[in-house]
Amino acid sequence: MQKIITIAEAQKLSSPNPFALLTTRKPDGTTNIMALSWWTYLSNHPAAIGICLSNKGYSGTCIKANPFFSLSLPGIKLQNSAFQCGTCSGRQRDKVKELSIPLSQHPDFPVPYVTGSRIAFSCEMCSAYLVHDHTFYLCDVKQILGDDTILALFAQHGYAKLDIVSTEIPS
Ligand SMILES: Cc1cc2nc3c(=O)[nH]c(=O)nc-3n(C[C@H](O)[C@H](O)[C@H](O)COP(=O)(O)O)c2cc1C
Repeated sequence: MQKIITIAEAQKLSSPNPFALLTTRKPDGTTNIMALSWWTYLSNHPAAIGICLSNKGYSGTCIKANPFFSLSLPGIKLQNSAFQCGTCSGRQRDKVKELSIPLSQHPDFPVPYVTGSRIAFSCEMCSAYLVHDHTFYLCDVKQILGDDTILALFAQHGYAKLDIVSTEIPS
């Protein structure tokens, strides 16, 4: 029997949900990183994606100050540390260093991506829309790196843990 449920319960029922790590540039030039499930493709030609960030977090502040960012879909090796990126803010600390997140830099783009990711999007934020307690950012995709040997992580039981999706078949 269907019953009325909350948005949090709906997010649990809709999982596995997508998962990515968002890297942005801090004002001091170092890199901030956060866990992010609320991203989506928006357009193919030109390629655009959308990301939705809580107004409480630090990554939104970073993106508004510097619109370039990377969105990486990390593999199983980062299962624990990638989750930790979603449990504390980079406002006062260096999560990249503390969690030993490996970063790589593409020569054509100013913000590093997470090494060993299935996909890494290099993006530029174009416009921001306040949506109650979150802000939705419309972003142009400048470049995409891919590695089909890496299995992507998905958020499970809502956003309680990360794991690969068991039906995913390595190519
Ligand atoms: C699996 C998972 C998914 C998350 N997805 C999002 C998301 O889509 N948007 C968001 O604003 N926060 C999301 N979070 C929470 C942020 O990652 C968390 O608030 C983080 O501390 C923000 O870091 P910052 O202050 O350095 O930006 C998620 C957390 C986890 C564990």
